[in-house]
Amino acid sequence: MATDAPDSQQQENQTEQRADALRTRIREADRAYYEQDNPIISDAEYDELMRELRALEEANPALVTPDSPTQAVSGAPAAGFAKVRHRTPMLSLANARAPEELLAWRDRAARVLPQAVFRYVCEPKIDGLSMNLTYDHGELVLGATRGDGLVGEDVTANVRTIKDIPHRLNADGGAPIPDIVEVRGEIYMRHSDFEALNQRLADEAEQAGTTPRLFANARNSAAGSLRQKDPQITVSRPLSFLAYHMGALEGADEPATQADLLGYLRAWGFPVSPLATRVETIEEAQAYADQRAAARFDLGYDIDGAVIKIDDRWQQQELGSVGRDPRWAIAYKFAPAEGNTKLLGINVSVGRTGALTPIASLAPLKLGGVTITSAQLFNEDEVRRKDLRIGDTVVVQRHGDVIPGIVKAMVELRDGTEQPWTFPTNCPVCDTPVVRAEGGAVTYCPNLQCPARHLENVIHFAAVMDIRGLGEAIAERLVGSALIHDVADLYHLTKEQLLTLPGFQEKSAENLLRSIETSKRQPFERVLCAIGIRFVGEKAAESLAQGFRSADALLNATEEEISALPGVGPKIAHSVYEWLQVDTHRQFIEKLKAAGLRMEVTDDGSAARDGLPFSGQTFLLTGSLSQLTRGQAEQAIKALGGKIAPSVTKSLDHLVVGDAPGSKVAKAEKLGVPTRTEDWLVEQLREHGAMPEKRERLS
Ligand code: IVH
Repeated sequence: MATDAPDSQQQENQTEQRADALRTRIREADRAYYEQDNPIISDAEYDELMRELRALEEANPALVTPDSPTQAVSGAPAAGFAKVRHRTPMLSLANARAPEELLAWRDRAARVLPQAVFRYVCEPKIDGLSMNLTYDHGELVLGATRGDGLVGEDVTANVRTIKDIPHRLNADGGAPIPDIVEVRGEIYMRHSDFEALNQRLADEAEQAGTTPRLFANARNSAAGSLRQKDPQITVSRPLSFLAYHMGALEGADEPATQADLLGYLRAWGFPVSPLATRVETIEEAQAYADQRAAARFDLGYDIDGAVIKIDDRWQQQELGSVGRDPRWAIAYKFAPAEGNTKLLGINVSVGRTGALTPIASLAPLKLGGVTITSAQLFNEDEVRRKDLRIGDTVVVQRHGDVIPGIVKAMVELRDGTEQPWTFPTNCPVCDTPVVRAEGGAVTYCPNLQCPARHLENVIHFAAVMDIRGLGEAIAERLVGSALIHDVADLYHLTKEQLLTLPGFQEKSAENLLRSIETSKRQPFERVLCAIGIRFVGEKAAESLAQGFRSADALLNATEEEISALPGVGPKIAHSVYEWLQVDTHRQFIEKLKAAGLRMEVTDDGSAARDGLPFSGQTFLLTGSLSQLTRGQAEQAIKALGGKIAPSVTKSLDHLVVGDAPGSKVAKAEKLGVPTRTEDWLVEQLREHGAMPEKRERLS
C-alpha cells in the first residue's frame, strides 16, 4: 500500500546500510587478521558479526553481493599460495557441550552398530591450524592447510621449517613405511614461544623505531607465522606440531585402532600428545574431558576441548560420516573462559611514539585460574563501537594466556547510572591536545617532551646514535633530574651538571660526554632514524636521507615527494609529512642542527664509514650470546661499518653462532658461509674498541 511504502522503503534502506556496515567491518577485521596478523576484534565478536550478516542476507536475499564475506569459504586460500586438493577430504568434528550431548553421540553410534562394544581414545583438542602432510615413500612432499576441507593451500616450504615435522619418516621405529600416507595434525604455538615472539617483535620494532605489531593470541600467531610468503620468516617463528590422524594410506596395512594409529605416528617420528588416553566407557571419557577442562590453562599451549574417538577403526569405517562430520568422533568443547564483571574505568597509556592506548580497568574476575583486572581495548573506535560505559557489566573473554578482551557491554543490565566515556582530547600525561591522523585508528600525543614519551625517546635515541654509557638507568636519571627536556639537550650537558647526579664520578661523566660528542659524527640517516618518527626505521631513514640529502629539503617536501622514494610507502610518507608539519618538531630539528649534528648527507660521512674495520662486510647472528646482548652485538657491528643481513645467503660474510643456534648453521655450512664463535666476535669488537661494557639486560 502507498502509505506503507515510505516505511518499508526506509526499513529496507536501513537493512541495506546495516549489511554494508557489517561487511565493511568484517573485511577490516579480515585484513587485520590475515594480512597484518594483527586482529582488531575478538573471535567471538567476529563470529557475532558474521552471524548477523548471514541472518540479514538470508532474510533479504536481494541484499547478497557476490563479494560479501558470507560468500567466501572461511579459511579460503590466501592469494599467493597454490591450491591443492587433499587426497581424502579433511573432515571436521561435531561438537558436544554437555554430558547429555556426549551420551547422545554414543547412543547414535550404538544405533548404527547395535552389537558393538565401544572403547574410546581421548585426546586434547589443540587450538591451532590443522595440517595435512603427504609422505611419498617416506619423503615429505606436500604440506597443505585445511582450506575448505577439500582444497587447501600449499605451504610445503614453510612446513619444512618446523622442527617437529620430519622431512623423512623414521623407518626404524617399528612401523612400515607406506607408499603414500597423509599425516594429519595441528600446528600450534606454545605460550612461552608466543610470548618470546611478541617480545622479540616488540624489541625489533623498538630498535627500528616503529610501532610493534603484536599477535593477540597464540593461535593467530601460529596462523600468521605459517602463512608467511617467505619461509625465512616462518623459520624464525617457533611453531610446534602434534599428529593425531591419518588420511590416505597406500601400500601399508591400516592400523586396527586409533591407539595403534597414534603408535605408528610416534614410530615415524611425530610428536603425539602424551595426554592421549584409551578408556573403556563413555563415563571415563566424560571424566577425561572434565579433567582436561579443569587443567586447560596449565598446559603451556591452548586447547579448546577434548576429542573423543571410537578406538576400533573397523567400527569407525562402519559408522562413516554425516556430511563433513564423522560419526565416530566428537569434540567435547570446553565452556569458553568467559565471565561478567564491572567496568570500573578506562585508562589511557602513552607509548614511546606517543600512541594512546585505552585499557579497561575491571573489578577482579576469576577466569581460568587467574584473576583478571584489566582488558585490552585496542583503540578509540573500539570503545565507541562497543558503546562501553563506566559502570557497565561487561562480558570478558580469556583466549589462552593473553590479556583478555571485552566482548560486549550487557546493555540490559544498565540502570542509568553508567557514565559514557569519551576518548581524552588531551594527553593524560602532559595535557597536550592529542592528534589523530586522518584515516588512521591511532590517536597520539604530539609533544616530544611528554614525560611518558621522553624517557623511551632518550633510550631509543641513544641506542640508534650509539651513545655508549647512556642506557636505561642513566637515561632515567637524566630525565628525572630535568637536565634534559628533549634529546637535543644532551648536547649541552656539562660535566658539572652530570656530577650532580647520583652515581656519576669524574671519569664516568667524562666518558658519557665523550660518547655524546662522538655521536655528532653519526650520518644524517642515523639522526633521522633516532628522532623517533612513527614507522621510520633504518631502511626508511636511509631512503629519506638519500632522497632529500638534507633536513631543510625534507622540511619543504610534499607528501607525494616523500612517498615517491623507494621503500617509503604511503603510510610512512604520511607519518613523516604529518610529523614535519608540527611546529615543535620543526624547532626540534633546528635545535639538533644548532647542536652540531649532521642534518645533511655529507660525503665525508660515507667516506669515513668506508674506512671502518667492518665496511663492506655482512653479519648475521644466531643463537643466544652470553657476553653481550644481541642488540648490543648488532649495534657494535654497525658502529664498525658492518651490515646485519636479514637471512643466510651465499653472499653473507660471517654467521656468528651463539648457544642453541637454529637451522641457520646448517644452511650456512651448505652455502659455504664462514661460521664464527661469540669469542671471535668479542675479540674483534675489543680490538676495535667497540665492545660494550656490560650486558644491558640480563635475562
Ligand atoms: S581429529 C575426522 N583430533 O579440530 C577427525 N582433530 O573441529 C579429524 N583438532 O579440523 C580431526 N585436535 O583441526 C582431531 N586431537 C585432535 C584434534 C583435532 C584439534 C582440530 C582439527 C579439526 C578440528 C575439528
